[in-house]
Amino acid sequence: MSIRPIRWLAALALVAAPMAVFAQSAAPARVASPDGRLVVEVSTDGEGRPSWRAERDGKPLVAPSRLGMLFVDAPKFERRLAIAGQRAGSADATWELPWGERRVVRDRHNELRVTLAETQAPRRRFDVVFRVFDDGLGFRYDIPAQPGLARLEIADELTEFVVAPEATAWWLPALEWNREEYLYQRTPLAEVGRAQTPITLRAADGTHLAVHEAALVDYPAMNLVRVDGHRLRADLTPGTGAARASVAAPFATPWRVLLVADSAAQLASSDLVLNLNEPNALGDVSWVRPMKYVGIWWEMHLGTHTWASGAQHGATTERALRIVDFAADHGIDGVLIEGWNEGWDGDWFGNGEDFDFTRPYPDFDLERVAGHARARGVRLIGHHETSGHAAHYESQLGDAFDLYRRLGVDAVKTGYVADGGQAKVRDEDGRLRYAWHESQAMVNHHDRVVREAAKRRIAVNPHEPVKDTGLRRTWPNLVTREGARGMEYNAWGLPGNPPEHEATLVFTRMLAGPMDFTPGIFSMRTRSGEPMATTLAKQLALYVVLYSPLQMAADLPEHYEANLPAFRFIQDVPVDWEDSRAIAGEVGEFVVFARRDRRSDDWYLGAVTDAQARTLRAPLDFLEPGRRYTAQVYRDGPGAGWQADQTDLVIESREVAAGDTLELRLAPGGGQAIRFVAGPAGNL
Ligand code: NOJ
Ligand code: CA
Repeated sequence: MSIRPIRWLAALALVAAPMAVFAQSAAPARVASPDGRLVVEVSTDGEGRPSWRAERDGKPLVAPSRLGMLFVDAPKFERRLAIAGQRAGSADATWELPWGERRVVRDRHNELRVTLAETQAPRRRFDVVFRVFDDGLGFRYDIPAQPGLARLEIADELTEFVVAPEATAWWLPALEWNREEYLYQRTPLAEVGRAQTPITLRAADGTHLAVHEAALVDYPAMNLVRVDGHRLRADLTPGTGAARASVAAPFATPWRVLLVADSAAQLASSDLVLNLNEPNALGDVSWVRPMKYVGIWWEMHLGTHTWASGAQHGATTERALRIVDFAADHGIDGVLIEGWNEGWDGDWFGNGEDFDFTRPYPDFDLERVAGHARARGVRLIGHHETSGHAAHYESQLGDAFDLYRRLGVDAVKTGYVADGGQAKVRDEDGRLRYAWHESQAMVNHHDRVVREAAKRRIAVNPHEPVKDTGLRRTWPNLVTREGARGMEYNAWGLPGNPPEHEATLVFTRMLAGPMDFTPGIFSMRTRSGEPMATTLAKQLALYVVLYSPLQMAADLPEHYEANLPAFRFIQDVPVDWEDSRAIAGEVGEFVVFARRDRRSDDWYLGAVTDAQARTLRAPLDFLEPGRRYTAQVYRDGPGAGWQADQTDLVIESREVAAGDTLELRLAPGGGQAIRFVAGPAGNL
């Protein structure tokens, strides 16, 4: 990966207030976005309490919101603080994603570093660093080493986001048993409870906001609790002891992020979270290769096969060889095989101590399957279900990855199936402790897994993960993850995912990063036979709408073999993009994405809707001017609908060019997928 700074406009220059000036009436510190629309101020009040606020286009966006921190073993950072210094800086640089939804990312922001110092003993000090972009802002606490603060035992943050305008919120409850796998609630902001991030907000004037965090490293995940009115306060995920975070100074917290956009589509196009992460730490990552894959998987969720051994065991040698052949015959790069290793036979959910990550079941010949996959040019995807027992997994981690390395497996799906609060870690005394999936201990566990995998040139795809905070920039082998209700809910039966689910995910969960949603179900029936909330066209559109560098064709091979014309789109659609544009959408209603292939000049379009049928106009202004394209259209037919004929799919071709506008007719619960095959350049 290459990092190409364009220019540094100003290098962090000291602009104000020497240390000794503690006047509490000092002018607020101010910083604006490069386009000047978003302005942030940091100030202290008469009691020395620091706060931040933001305006956009001269209108209040964030009302005064507190900054500070509670400690387990020391007085809080909150009162009797004064601005002891401030430094401003700016950056305008581009850098490249080795794989992603676009190749080139621009990082253009203005920075303000404010030093807050206690005016009385113990006279501690810390910085708050703001970076303000045209599409939002991030800020973090940067705490230097100082006498009496070698370790920080953080009880919680006092960080607030007081959203000024009236707003509608889309949010998931935090610290509940089903982790991040709840349906999004849509409520007035004033009715939010304790929420996970990202939380998405639409203000009355159409401004779209999302609160999230970036670069979550060695720290617990941040949730938000509504204190009163529109006041959201950070609520760090509890740890296994009194402190929620225990770190050594100097220490910088993750970035607290507010995305700001004029529309839902713009919100879904932000690179701000990635920009706030550290650059690639791995150097050459050409071994991280995006791919599509099939697997021994859907049948376990439908209940016709089992992960456990026995007559219905899914991962037998014979079935594995068959699916490898299916992948090879149809040009699908990868095969995931779940339930291949010992440990699934008891009550595996939430236990995990029985798993052996190097011992295959007797009816699964791992060496033979791996050899066959290599011979047929298919990449096996490894599977490590831990049932949340991180400590047990860590005891085998090296051997587990060594085995895959030896077999040529370069991607591993991990899993942490356990109720919230029931992950298992060891504390510093070696005692087993129950932990939240997003506790500091689990954040550090995932960090160890990613590093161990990287040493062996293996990519990871965690399910029941810690939420994405953009760490794929630093660790490009952290390719994708779950972290929301995926397709599996539709196998299990009612209530499956509702028709608006994917159009909600795009503007909520997907703001964090890629998701292994596992689309492409052609059978479209739950295990008890009810229709899933989709049409066939929508299943195809999801490959464009829900970005992931690992993208599953999740259905059984026989369902694809029964409809090869529709399967063609899954074979064609790329998983690595030169550029991506959300061209229209409303949260939880519909979305249209256009993306350009990284390896050709072809463009792809995906559109999905909720329960409403809609006709959307899609101007093709993303296509290269002066060039003809063949649009291969996969659309809902006249009888299509998730409660009507789910399979009514029309496949047709037409010639188009930039400047044309397509009418996209989406059935209830439907969608549309288009491949634009580029003709020779300049043929118009
Ligand atoms: C939950 C994952 O999301 C799913 O994909 C997997 O099949 C099961 N856990 C078993 O590991
Ligand atoms: Ca899951």
